[in-house]
Amino acid sequence: MNDRISQLLKRAPGPAPVVAEGWVRTKRESKTVCFLELNDGSCLKGLQVVVDLETFADAAVLGRITTGAAVACTGELTASPGGNQDVELKASSITLHGEAPADTYPLQKKRHSLEYLREIAHLRARTNTMGAVARVRHAVSYAVHSYFNEKGFYYVHTPIISTSDAEGAGEMFQVTTFDLDNIPRSEEGTIDYAQDFFGRKASLTVSGQLEGETYALALKNIYTFGPTFRAENSNTKRHLSEFWMIEPEMSFCTLEGDMAIAEEFLKYVFSYVLEHCAEDMAFFSQWVEKGVAETLRTVVEKPFVHMTYTDAIVELEKNNDKFDFPVKWGSDLQTEHERYLTEQVCKGPVIVTDYPKEIKAFYMKLNEDGKTVRAMDVLVPRLGEIIGGSERESRLEVLTERMTSLGLDPADYWWYLDLRRYGSVPHAGFGLGFDRAIQYITGMQNIRDVIPYPRAAKQADF
Ligand code: 4AD
Ligand code: MG
Repeated sequence: MNDRISQLLKRAPGPAPVVAEGWVRTKRESKTVCFLELNDGSCLKGLQVVVDLETFADAAVLGRITTGAAVACTGELTASPGGNQDVELKASSITLHGEAPADTYPLQKKRHSLEYLREIAHLRARTNTMGAVARVRHAVSYAVHSYFNEKGFYYVHTPIISTSDAEGAGEMFQVTTFDLDNIPRSEEGTIDYAQDFFGRKASLTVSGQLEGETYALALKNIYTFGPTFRAENSNTKRHLSEFWMIEPEMSFCTLEGDMAIAEEFLKYVFSYVLEHCAEDMAFFSQWVEKGVAETLRTVVEKPFVHMTYTDAIVELEKNNDKFDFPVKWGSDLQTEHERYLTEQVCKGPVIVTDYPKEIKAFYMKLNEDGKTVRAMDVLVPRLGEIIGGSERESRLEVLTERMTSLGLDPADYWWYLDLRRYGSVPHAGFGLGFDRAIQYITGMQNIRDVIPYPRAAKQADF
């Protein structure tokens, strides 16, 4: 394999021939010389290829090279007289692998809107913005595994197809092989799931947490990192129907340990990206969200603010006249409230704890007040919630009662309840929305532009 462009750009000039492969971003021509800017996705910057028209043998091939063409250029790396780069490639021969006819190629040199790029998602990775997003997504994934590996957490593969609703919120996509025009029914007219593929009603998972907990109660510290699916019909800039989630789960751990890990983990990932994706972060800071790299750096240095839900409501009530949805104790927090707390009140990430039990999932540990649960959400500017977590209810009776009062059948969760029957222990965990984390890091406005192929209500193209 030949060197990537990122590697070539770091090499010293020299006579040994090198091959640069990539897609042409721009082509400029004068009477005597032709410049190609070549990009192969390994970095933001392109390699300048210089063709001396007076000596270059294959003039015909040059005529067919336009923006978007795939080429391999062979030649010598020379010191570049231009200020933009240290080296450039003086081409002695060029192989044109694939043309990109200018009259139809949808990605011309001009700046395209992100909305337009979403319509050509199969080509948008060739743009500066989407290339940078792809590289940051990669780096963040790597940092996630690296953090947990260093901390001795085991990566557990929880199932994608599930028969339990991990959040108890009924927002699941059903998985079935039934002929939808002819669904088997019982004599009473209800759907006969016994005849379906899995012999029971099955869905795509909304979270790997419950299965993750079973491994945490054996391996102590584990994490999951996989796709999750939610059939919530929220058409917003921060919701997807298919998104990736990272869910650590720790045994012998309470809410305090959970919050400490969440903060340390986020800071580790942010630092990793600042260090390893400096060029891309500078790009986002300049073109996407002014100063986003600097903001991240400050976040890494400062301790997160902590606040109870009850205190948060006191702060929010002061501003109730400005919200679309005024709040009082018991209200679920909407994005506008979360943003106000983190942007106006705390001026940085804030961990809100001890929410009313009515607005949180069944598995969260009930506080002694009987009204709130040991929940914690990490809120950040621009987005609101990026992490949701809690200490888990480890007492069998309390958990069973909570489920029943929420209309969940404990029998459906028999195996989950077994964890409280046998060797139960205080344990806690959280879920980081991976795509929201990428949005926060890059400053990208819309979550649909940080995942290659976004799935949302009425959107599943490609
Ligand atoms: O707060 P959530 O629903 O928590 C859970 O799923 C728990 N089982 C996590 C745990 O304790 N193990 O989701 C966790 C995070 C949210 O904070 C948010 O960042 C992200 O997942 N998220 C979404 N991201 C994109 N699109 C959606 N529709 C999302 N729903 C949640
Ligand atoms: Mg949540």
